[in-house]
Amino acid sequence: MLNVCLIGLGRTGKEIAKILLQQEDMRLVMAVCSEFSAKEGKNLGEILNIQETEIVVESCSNLEQNILKYKPDVAIDFSNPEATLRNAEALGKQKVPVVVGTTGFNDLQSRKLVSLTRQYKIGILHAPNITTGVNVLMVLTNLAASILENYDCTITESHFKNKKDAPSGTAIKIAKEIAKARSNTTAVHDHDTSDIPIHAIRAGGIIGHHKVILAGEFDKIEISHESFARTAFAMGALKAVKFINNKVGFYEMDDVLDLKNVIMRYLERESMIRKQRYLNFDSNFLGLSTQNEDKYVESAY
Ligand SMILES: NC(=O)c1ccc[n+]([C@@H]2O[C@H](COP(=O)([O-])OP(=O)(O)OC[C@H]3O[C@@H](n4cnc5c(N)ncnc54)[C@H](OP(=O)(O)O)[C@@H]3O)[C@@H](O)[C@H]2O)c1
Repeated sequence: MLNVCLIGLGRTGKEIAKILLQQEDMRLVMAVCSEFSAKEGKNLGEILNIQETEIVVESCSNLEQNILKYKPDVAIDFSNPEATLRNAEALGKQKVPVVVGTTGFNDLQSRKLVSLTRQYKIGILHAPNITTGVNVLMVLTNLAASILENYDCTITESHFKNKKDAPSGTAIKIAKEIAKARSNTTAVHDHDTSDIPIHAIRAGGIIGHHKVILAGEFDKIEISHESFARTAFAMGALKAVKFINNKVGFYEMDDVLDLKNVIMRYLERESMIRKQRYLNFDSNFLGLSTQNEDKYVESAY
């Protein structure tokens, strides 16, 4: 049983709390609101509009003492960058690994987050893009940008009108994927995204929509992802929690989902199928003897 601490009880945090309460292999032991929040001291059930739970909401101002009291194995933080960094210090001191879903970190704050893993020797999983679907979009975008290297790339993201950061963390990450696909260097900080425009739309209650357009002179490709419900974020958070438990170091959702290996397996499978196709058809057609088949297949590649 994995004991989980949830920090941030806003739109996303509340959805994650509801899903956590339904898990058989995880137990929500601690729910944390901001300092001076009206949620402090209330039963979590009241905040979530469900029946009473065993959890009373605690303020972030007593985070370290409460970690000692409730002993969570892993924490999830969906608050804001300043709060997340403060909370991560307290979690670090108590050696509790954390899934950070918060977005909107500036460069300095991002570096600080990475440095906390070294300072406290804890696991931090930074997931500004926590759904599997949006991570698939990133891999597909990376592939498309490598193949269509002369196409212009544009990203459009749409979210609800009160979302604090713009452009979204995911849109910034997609731009980095495009730059990475087209760069000759593996040094992440050298990837220039300045020629990849990002358009941010803030309207109504849109949960999350990202679209990449790769446009050439005569055709274009569009790759898009839309979250219909915040449950998608909660499902990603569950996967992330299981991954970061007992780990030390800085990770991203890419490490959790292992999509690059899925592609490797796809390529291997395709290569085997092609090889088989040559063996089945071409050797018969050319009347090759079985001893010559391997030679023929090798020369075909
Ligand atoms: N990774 C992803 O895929 C993904 C998906 C959705 C959202 N997000 C990000 O997650 C963050 C939260 O999103 P949201 O839509 O849920 O925002 P939100 O509705 O504004 O909720 C943020 C919550 O953070 C709480 N908070 C502020 N300071 C805190 C502190 N020091 N300790 C504990 N809680 C604190 C606030 O609590 P009080 O109400 O108590 O003041 C508020 O309820 C944003 O950065 C957003 O961009 C990421």
